[in-house]
Amino acid sequence: MLCLAGFVSLDCGGKENFTDEIGLPWTPDELRYGDISTISVANETRKQYTTVRHFPADSRKYCYTLDVVSRTRYLLRASFLYGNFDANNVYPKFDIFVGATHWSTIVISDANTIEMRELIFLALSPTVSVCLSNATTGKPFISTLELRQFNGSVYYTYTEEHFYLSVSARINFGADSDAPIRYPDDPFDRIWESDSIKRANYLVDVAAGTRKISTNKSIEVSSDEMPPMKVMQSGVVGTNGSLTYRLNLDGFPGFAWAVTYFAEIEDLAENESRKFRLVLPGHPDISKPVVNIEENAPGKYRLYEPGYTNLSLPFVLSFKFSKTSDSARGPLLNAMEINEYLEKNDGSPDGEVISSVLSHYSSEEWAQEGGDPCLPVPWSWLLCIGGDGSLLSSKNLTGNIPLEITELTGLVELWLDGNMLTGPIPDFTGCMDLKIIHLENNQLTGALPTSLVNLPNLRELYVQNNMLSGTVPSDLLKKVSFLNYSGNDNLRKDSRRKTPLYVIIGSTVGAAVLLLATVISCLFKHKGKNRYYEQNSLVSHPSQSLEPTKSIGPAEAAHCYSFSEIEKSTNNFEKKIGSGGFGVVYYGKLKDGKEIAVKVLTSNSYQGKREFSNEVILLSRIHHRNLVQLLGYCREEGNSMLIYEFMHNGTLKEHLYGNIDWKKRLEIAEDAAKGIEYLHTGCVPAVIHRDLKSSNILLDRQMKAKVSDFGLSKLAVDGASHVSSIVRGTVGYLDPEYYISQQLTDKSDIYSFGVILLELISGQEAISNDSFGANCRNIVQWAKLHIESGDIQGIIDPVLQNKYDLQSMWKIAEIALMCVQPHGHMRPSISEVLKETQDAIAIERGSEGNSDEPRNSVHSSVNMDLVAPESFLSIDDSIAQPTAR
Ligand SMILES: *[C@@H]1O[C@H](CO)[C@@H](O)[C@H](O)[C@H]1NC(C)=O
Ligand SMILES: *[C@@H]1O[C@H](CO)[C@@H](O)[C@H](O)[C@H]1NC(C)=O
Repeated sequence: MLCLAGFVSLDCGGKENFTDEIGLPWTPDELRYGDISTISVANETRKQYTTVRHFPADSRKYCYTLDVVSRTRYLLRASFLYGNFDANNVYPKFDIFVGATHWSTIVISDANTIEMRELIFLALSPTVSVCLSNATTGKPFISTLELRQFNGSVYYTYTEEHFYLSVSARINFGADSDAPIRYPDDPFDRIWESDSIKRANYLVDVAAGTRKISTNKSIEVSSDEMPPMKVMQSGVVGTNGSLTYRLNLDGFPGFAWAVTYFAEIEDLAENESRKFRLVLPGHPDISKPVVNIEENAPGKYRLYEPGYTNLSLPFVLSFKFSKTSDSARGPLLNAMEINEYLEKNDGSPDGEVISSVLSHYSSEEWAQEGGDPCLPVPWSWLLCIGGDGSLLSSKNLTGNIPLEITELTGLVELWLDGNMLTGPIPDFTGCMDLKIIHLENNQLTGALPTSLVNLPNLRELYVQNNMLSGTVPSDLLKKVSFLNYSGNDNLRKDSRRKTPLYVIIGSTVGAAVLLLATVISCLFKHKGKNRYYEQNSLVSHPSQSLEPTKSIGPAEAAHCYSFSEIEKSTNNFEKKIGSGGFGVVYYGKLKDGKEIAVKVLTSNSYQGKREFSNEVILLSRIHHRNLVQLLGYCREEGNSMLIYEFMHNGTLKEHLYGNIDWKKRLEIAEDAAKGIEYLHTGCVPAVIHRDLKSSNILLDRQMKAKVSDFGLSKLAVDGASHVSSIVRGTVGYLDPEYYISQQLTDKSDIYSFGVILLELISGQEAISNDSFGANCRNIVQWAKLHIESGDIQGIIDPVLQNKYDLQSMWKIAEIALMCVQPHGHMRPSISEVLKETQDAIAIERGSEGNSDEPRNSVHSSVNMDLVAPESFLSIDDSIAQPTAR
């Protein structure tokens, strides 16, 4: 029980102290940031998992600061149980940091599974901080944070001051149940996972003849930090001569600290031996030493722990123990630990100085953000350029300017304006990079130090509204581009002018632009900087506006229709046939009899004439039988119009809620997928649609589908993604990851297409207030629930009346669910979706000829077994990482 002194167990979002079922005391985290939510997850009743603390998905970091004993080793454990705390079903993805070091990326792929991360480290200062930051989807959140203090040296490494050990695997072999062994069996509360637990890519490919063994006899483990006796009392033996396992190691490939634990727990006959070798692919040297437990841990029931302190391991680790030819018994294995080396980031160079500046204000809320001053993102009041700190404020500071500030060698800007600072302006010559100093609106006294002249980069100095006296050094006036010293009654310019002056010298504008360029490219937005951002016009100089890219030439220019021609063909815009987010569509008929659809864009759709024609030229160059053809444009009389081929059968949306059979629906999906495939893979650069939905899939006279509305498409930048300032799309179809990250990729279209597939299956709209039951407005949530629990019937459009093949239905349901995975990288490509759709059509055609009867009375039970969600789950699992421990 003594070691509990070194235990910290924070129940994040918890409200009271309590002791859990294994006897560990928990305390509420009491963080001043973030919100608390209560969650309820089936099969997880532990009190610490009934609340989470979550944080805004902004550019800040949110840190816990834990007290530790310096020069002591600890196990740090953080866990994350999403539990749909925001009732949003957007699976969060964010990063966690220990101090300035990136610890891990937390990717939630199941609302009801705990993600856990463990780190072993040597404390080098009296506190350790854990920060959440950099949300790419959803909100960062945390369920528990735990510290377990070690008191020995099992985890000592030569490099421990520069590397952390990130725990990858800690396995108890031969376990008698799925339950892990931890406190109180393990006095340090390490979690020894059972080898019998079933999880994707966890201890698979087990050799035939592997048998569990166990003993009740006590086992001599030399110290508390060795595996607990209970772990060593069980093991596996390879009765056919070998033990084999394969498992994924999160975070790898990398360098590992890897140790195996052996104890002879079988009664060997006098003349029997047990000798074996470890075989690791790619490591022939490792197979040389022979493990002989008897020899190395003489006497039975003693621990022997050979291991490697620095071994290069792959992500997929296959290992094997083989008995030597002269050994009577096969190999034995009781336990194993694999930790990955994680190189420490030493943090901002000025971090220590900043900490000592902060020590003056330690009771102030703004001084308690925690973590490294600049990494991964700076404190909200701090501006960091290239890792160096520069200080900002307006924080009711009193007293003198802290002298430590003058030791910040990387300081570029200093903002101490609007405080109640008194005393003299210190000598800043220790901060040679200083460019801007804001000291205005304080109560500073004394003279303007002549040492300011020695700052080579100083451009702007603000000291107005203080109580400064004396004269303004004339060299200073020459040096800086901007100096404001008004409102200091006793401060005068050298030239004996009577009144204080407000001076702006030289090319202020030029200087400001230069500075802004740095600020904007390196920094995030920030309260104290508003004044600068107001001057944004200075950076967006007209000469920088974008030129059309090379690939868009005038070669295949779209036809330019005159306004009168359009007016005439639409009979003065008589027949409205549709409207959407960016324009109203009218029916028209050209002189030659060709029918057209005229989209009159709402005024803000295309601002500049050049952008407009760029877009039109781009779009009119795209020809595909499953894409609605853009014939031309008209830009006159203040109107922007796009002229498209006319599609006789309107939108898919109109038909969906009517009566089209399953095969037709599949063919429409196939057509649309072909159109999108062309956009994604046939255009260089690829075109991302951005606004796929059933009302953007049009049907021609033969009910062939074509994708329309590239009005929102933008050229995708070569490579994976494209940052865009405005998220566009339609609610219900909008990729949640794109919505949050604003990183547009082709996978955002896949999400929307998945929603369309679900509409085809169910005949339901993407968003509905009353079709999906209580608390659910979204087709994705609703369908997912049904499909994942095997209840596909529950979502199939009743209009289809069993006239479909259940297997083709499952195929589409599964691929649809893949399409709406929360993270883009988990979604299939459009070509894969197309392939599945075509397979489904083939199934449908195959079973069609047989009978006109409703077909599922015969098939359903078989099909359910064949294609029940396992196939979906297994794909899911292999793409996502089985990180939960
Ligand atoms: C492990 O070995 C590799 C290659 O020899 C080396 O680059 C790395 O720094 C070592 N890591 C540690 C933690 O010693
Ligand atoms: C400064 O003091 C004022 C008045 O006491 C208070 O309202 C304000 O919140 C304080 N600002 C900071 C940053 O502490």
